[in-house]
Amino acid sequence: MNEHTLSKRLERVAAQVPAGARLADIGSDHGYLPVALLRRGVIVAAVAGEVALTPFNAATRTVRENGLETQITVRLANGLAAIEPGDGITAISVCGMGGETIRDILDRGKAYLSGQERLILQPNGAEPPLRQWLMDNGYRILFEDVLRENRFDYEVIVAERTGPVRYSAEELYFGPLQMQARSPAFLLKWQRKLRQKQKTLAQLARAQQGVPEQTLQDIEQQTRWISRLLA
Ligand SMILES: C[S@@+](CC[C@H](N)C(=O)[O-])C[C@H]1O[C@@H](n2cnc3c(N)ncnc32)[C@H](O)[C@@H]1O
Repeated sequence: MNEHTLSKRLERVAAQVPAGARLADIGSDHGYLPVALLRRGVIVAAVAGEVALTPFNAATRTVRENGLETQITVRLANGLAAIEPGDGITAISVCGMGGETIRDILDRGKAYLSGQERLILQPNGAEPPLRQWLMDNGYRILFEDVLRENRFDYEVIVAERTGPVRYSAEELYFGPLQMQARSPAFLLKWQRKLRQKQKTLAQLARAQQGVPEQTLQDIEQQTRWISRLLA
């Protein structure tokens, strides 16, 4: 992967960035996403935020090598603190981190959100707590995608702040739109998950003691939901 050829995962993210956007890519690592989008003429400006020095330096190098210093600002900052009011950001991408990490970045960075930005999130697992945060903060999920690459299932979640929105526990677990669309990639993901959960339950049954009752109940509940979804 590089700024010319994105991974399948980042291509799916790129497809959700509106034309003409001013993008803040938080946790940008090498800066491949904003650089690729600028090279393609999809976005007009970007901020690449990084909390760690090595990826910050890598992103700075990618931007420089592509001669995009005037359009892309690389900032060493924690989460949404990379965004400054004058940036006029219209879309924020946070990709390639756990769902809880993305949720925490959004929650700690609320002061940097105008509420007008499109959020394009690509969690690596732990999607339900992220969807819960979106619901609790008045963000409606407008698009969801699931894809498989290198033996991992990835999700893309696009949301915008619209005001109060209600999702059921199952919608938060599976994704409200994915539950409706039932794409082949989505069904395959949950077939695999069901086998994993059943295996875990069998292992826990053999362990017999030391397993918190709540953990057991949660996995049983999830197994019932998945079985019903696939039935
Ligand atoms: C696995 S990489 C993903 C890179 C890229 N977004 C992608 O999807 O391919 C995660 C990056 O997020 C950065 N990161 C983690 N927490 C962060 C935070 N709170 N603020 C900014 N960057 C963060 C890490 O330093 C790392 O470079």
